[in-house]
Amino acid sequence: MKHFLKETDFQAHELGEVFALARTYKQQRGRELSAVLKAQTWAMIFSKSSTRTRVSFEVGIHELGGNPLFLNKNDIQLGRGESIEDSAKVLSRFVHGLIVRTYDHADVQRLAAAGTVPVINALTDFLHPCQIYTDAFTAAERWAGPNGDLVASLKGRKIAYLGDTAFNMANSWILGASLFGMKISLAGPKGFEPGPEIQAALKAEGRAVDYHFTHDPYEAVAGADLVYTDVWTSMGQEEESKKRIALMSPYAVTAKLFAAAKPDALFMHCLPAHPGEEVEQAVLDNPRSVIFDEAENRLHMQKAIMTVLAKSARK
Ligand code: CP
Ligand code: NVA
Repeated sequence: MKHFLKETDFQAHELGEVFALARTYKQQRGRELSAVLKAQTWAMIFSKSSTRTRVSFEVGIHELGGNPLFLNKNDIQLGRGESIEDSAKVLSRFVHGLIVRTYDHADVQRLAAAGTVPVINALTDFLHPCQIYTDAFTAAERWAGPNGDLVASLKGRKIAYLGDTAFNMANSWILGASLFGMKISLAGPKGFEPGPEIQAALKAEGRAVDYHFTHDPYEAVAGADLVYTDVWTSMGQEEESKKRIALMSPYAVTAKLFAAAKPDALFMHCLPAHPGEEVEQAVLDNPRSVIFDEAENRLHMQKAIMTVLAKSARK
């Protein structure tokens, strides 16, 4: 049985199936409901706020014929100290899959280890793999064209990642780039170098540590096909907000910085954005900004991921 806790939980040879399914689901949208999750319930345990992830999963499970069950962590006994292991065992008796948004990445690993149903990481402090798969798909739609090879179109492309280079989105892009055969340059302040956890993850996968880190945002965007940023203050870091704004402001994606990437470079942001902080409104509004396609594609990509996991659970 498969889980999707990190980008590399699908091997390179499986990506073609996942991406092709996402494309098919996007083309079919609104015309037919699938029966892939018929008579199934998938529980969504969330400890953090969410708009895109929650709605895209709830709609996606419904469109696959299943029933989404949203559980705020504080409304269930997990929030009152019932162990992760017991929660996983109990929920596995009722539901067919668990979708989890939380702080500590080890918690989703423990749920997956103790439960008997597929677990999907819907964001931890360490990784946000559903977002990265969606973003790669969103770029590939443009680079491959309507009938081209989506996964192949990513190979050799360069991502520039600006701002908070030591948290979930940056980590996920590093792992994702290693899987998709992309190059990645990250530019962020001193003290925000990608940390030992992501280096250990790369090492565990037997992957070369193939990212480039710099303090110079212009060096990072030179030759980039894709310019990416995320909020400087992530969920759980609110108390550090002032300090982070001061440290990260040289890495804001301004129209001038975006213009220093390739002339056809795409701009992406996982959203929610803070215009005027990590990105200028003019960049969000640029015709090469694909932020709302990224948001929509969460639905199609997550339906593809659930389809493959549900199939593996039936074996
Ligand atoms: N990008 C993303 O995961 O958005 P939400 O926090 O709204 O789910
Ligand atoms: N880095 C952000 C991503 C939100 C989708 C956070 O963790 O809050």
